[in-house]
Amino acid sequence: MTGSIFGNSFSVTTWGESHGPAIGAVIDGCPAGLPLTEDNIQAFLNRRKPGQSKYTTSRKEDDQVEILSGVFKGCTTGTAISLIVRNTDQRSQDYGQIQDFFRPGHADYTFHEKYGFRDYRGGGRTSGRETIGRVAAGAVASLLLEELGIHLTSYTKSIGSITVPEDGYHFNEISENPLYMPSNAYAEDAAHYLEDCIKNQDSSGGIIECIIDGMPTGIGEPVFRKLDACLAQAVMSIGAVKGVEIGDGFQAAQACGSSNNDSFYEKNGQIVKRSNHAGGVLGGLSDGSRIILRAAIKPTPSIAKEQETIDIYGNTTNITVTGRHDPVIVPRAVVVVESMAAITIADLLIDNMSSKVEHLQKIYLKNL
Ligand SMILES: Cc1cc2nc3c(=O)[nH]c(=O)nc-3n(C[C@H](O)[C@H](O)[C@H](O)COP(=O)(O)O)c2cc1C
Repeated sequence: MTGSIFGNSFSVTTWGESHGPAIGAVIDGCPAGLPLTEDNIQAFLNRRKPGQSKYTTSRKEDDQVEILSGVFKGCTTGTAISLIVRNTDQRSQDYGQIQDFFRPGHADYTFHEKYGFRDYRGGGRTSGRETIGRVAAGAVASLLLEELGIHLTSYTKSIGSITVPEDGYHFNEISENPLYMPSNAYAEDAAHYLEDCIKNQDSSGGIIECIIDGMPTGIGEPVFRKLDACLAQAVMSIGAVKGVEIGDGFQAAQACGSSNNDSFYEKNGQIVKRSNHAGGVLGGLSDGSRIILRAAIKPTPSIAKEQETIDIYGNTTNITVTGRHDPVIVPRAVVVVESMAAITIADLLIDNMSSKVEHLQKIYLKNL
């Protein structure tokens, strides 16, 4: 009965509850010699911090990370890296109201049925705060990938029905608007839509896109640890994610083979593709082109609007969910999706080192 460990060679264990004393992650398998400071990790955590705009919850969480082990003189030592973020600004009394009720769209009912007992304060382990451990570990994975020339870019592709088209992308604008959209103009439209949601005591969903450049060819393990399968598991494990697409994804079901196949040609001695409907993965292995990953995020389940539900004694009742909640989860989850993708790729890159005798010879034969 284990569900808190992800990965094989670069493995991440997350721990902690929303209203417990702290939350964190342990990374096992990070190679020695990677320059790493708390500031590096903090930069990632700051991207998921609440209280940064009116579209994210007003909870003021400092989310200051401390490195407890695995780093010496600013570099990883090859031993387990333990990361901790202490919880502050919890208002557990906000949740007293729901201890006897099953909130629609939340895990209250399923946890109650499975365990017969649950930490109702802030959703416990199912809280959005659980993603702090993922993001702290994702920062380390991303730094490792940068050392290998692999770079991830993530942003909000859509909020509700407001979608930034590919020819409207301005990547320099992602960090200029609170919704992390690659277009300030579309972000303004989305902000108006969110204002309406807030007025109606409602919430919105959206789509996050993550693109990964610089991937070598052949990363992924047949058959159960295919790259696309691992990415899907990693991203689907984030709360509120309801769908994952690679490349054309569900659109591929409506295409013909002739339009969906990506033709190969040779360029400067390299095999490259004319298009990228596959999203950078063929047969579960990276094909050397850009990986394109999308995650569908549902609307925030906690809404102020009155909803019908059942209490733990079986009585029908109506509830309005109080407490401080994001009217849209998408902007805060952008860095979470990126982190899970980075962890997955770091893990599979290390696994791939044993795919050929040649790779092992490069490490172990002194004269190569
Ligand atoms: C970064 C992040 C922040 C979240 N913030 C909230 C929130 O403020 N209010 C809320 O009701 N749900 C929030 N959620 C979603 C719930 O955690 C999630 O919907 C719930 O646990 C039920 O799980 P499921 O949607 O995967 O079925 C957040 C999720 C993430 C990833």
